[in-house]
Amino acid sequence: MKNLVSMKDLSVDQIHAILEQAQAFREGAISKLTNRFTVSNLFFEPSTRTKMSFEMAERKLNLEVLPFDSDFSSTLKGETLYDTVKVFECVGLDVLVIRHEQNNFFEELVGKVNTAIINGGDGTGNHPTQSLLDIYTIWQEFGTLQDKVISIVGDIAHSRVARSNADALSRLGAQVRLVCPSEWQGEFEAFNEFDDVIEDSDVLMMLRVQHERHDGKTTFSKEQYHQMYGLTIERERKMKKNAIIMHPAPFNRDVEIANELVECDRSRIFKQMENGTYVRMAILELLLKGRE
Ligand code: NCD
Repeated sequence: MKNLVSMKDLSVDQIHAILEQAQAFREGAISKLTNRFTVSNLFFEPSTRTKMSFEMAERKLNLEVLPFDSDFSSTLKGETLYDTVKVFECVGLDVLVIRHEQNNFFEELVGKVNTAIINGGDGTGNHPTQSLLDIYTIWQEFGTLQDKVISIVGDIAHSRVARSNADALSRLGAQVRLVCPSEWQGEFEAFNEFDDVIEDSDVLMMLRVQHERHDGKTTFSKEQYHQMYGLTIERERKMKKNAIIMHPAPFNRDVEIANELVECDRSRIFKQMENGTYVRMAILELLLKGRE
């Protein structure tokens, strides 16, 4: 693996290898990298979890982390992403983690620069490292993805998390159901009634409404959305025994999920955040081993 820009870059075997290595890191394994690699995190969109857990993963792997702040970079003077990335290549960076609002921003970079690219989220397109940490969390819970019923609920059309997961979870043998209002269905087939999927789902994966990717027209009030597509206490009571709740976060309490459910027994939301560091260590190690 030279870059990780989409889940399509990974075979099922490679996904399993990342899960095993994430588990090893969780249990205290140390990095097998011998070189001291350099990395920088280029975030052109807001991020708390992804950026912080990448930085933690990089430090745990003993990588040299060069700071980058998009608010003080020459992109504000009109420099293109390609030209910015060329700077990092010229100063000798081995890997860049990039989040950008433009879908497929990586197409102008992959194969054209020597620096390895990890996609930390492109517009409404892909979010492979989030997908891998979601898969790891489900695998940790059930030991397999095979035949698990996973319902992804919310703003499907504008969600890179849904897009990356729909593809990868199906390849791993899960039954993926997408649930959303018809106006947020995008290119997918979906259920429009949340109540139709609750009772037989093993995982309810809630999504944040991506207001920043809408054209200003909000179709639902927060209360309406919560009643129609939110995980309410009444809906949680109908969930199957052992079924779990996930959310990539940031979550809006009492919109996608009732405040009281955020840290309930079924919730794995904070476990997902913990797992993010181990999964990103595994991804970075796999990618950098290829450069030794
Ligand atoms: C997601 C993202 O940025 O796509 N968050 C994350 O990376 N944990 C989901 C979101 O912003 O709604």
